[in-house]
Amino acid sequence: MAEPPSPGTTAMFSLPDLPYAYDALSPVISDDTLHFHHDKHHATYVKNTNDILQQAGKSFASLEEVVAEAHKAGDKKLFNNAAQAWNHAFFWESMSPETQDPTGDVAEAIRSAFGDHGALKEAFVTEGAGHFASGWVWLVADTDGAVKVISTHDAADTLTEQGLTPLLVCDLWEHAYYLDYQNDRKQFLTKWFEALPNWSFAGAQFDARANGGAYRFDAPSRSSVSA
Ligand code: FE2
Repeated sequence: MAEPPSPGTTAMFSLPDLPYAYDALSPVISDDTLHFHHDKHHATYVKNTNDILQQAGKSFASLEEVVAEAHKAGDKKLFNNAAQAWNHAFFWESMSPETQDPTGDVAEAIRSAFGDHGALKEAFVTEGAGHFASGWVWLVADTDGAVKVISTHDAADTLTEQGLTPLLVCDLWEHAYYLDYQNDRKQFLTKWFEALPNWSFAGAQFDARANGGAYRFDAPSRSSVSA
């Protein structure tokens, strides 16, 4: 934990902007869905995290620390909000308006683990479609560079898993797809995997897994608040 905040000062995490326009992922994800998802759902998780920390008089140097400490302490309310704030920011980075193919070392790791890109798609869609209730489906790499597909429940993420670096994530909560696909999560995941994965980002994550350079949420800003 970082130093406690001085009186009248608190560390506030900010809602990150989407790295593209709201209509940039259409038709796979509509403008309406992105507005609700980012401006309402994600914004609420960030606000709740800030509110909980402020009420508790706690200050952390990073959102990653908040997630780890809340998990260790069994503080479910803080963990759920902080992890969801992080997961959504990572989700936005996991998508690109430009359809891409994996290249470089991550492409080689996918071939080694799955055989070909189609088999990875099958594994990713099957894992996500079969996941019970809300959560996230991830492509992750271990420290040796072996890649695999996993899913996590509710707000759970890979920050609390030793030795795993997330490469890509897709949101399995109904708010991610219900406006566009109703209850057809499998169709959402299929369209998502075919068009939206940001393989440049996944490749950078793969390359950074062992050197501490993987994605981090923006550090909090310190601002004066009235008591
Ligand atoms: Fe979401």
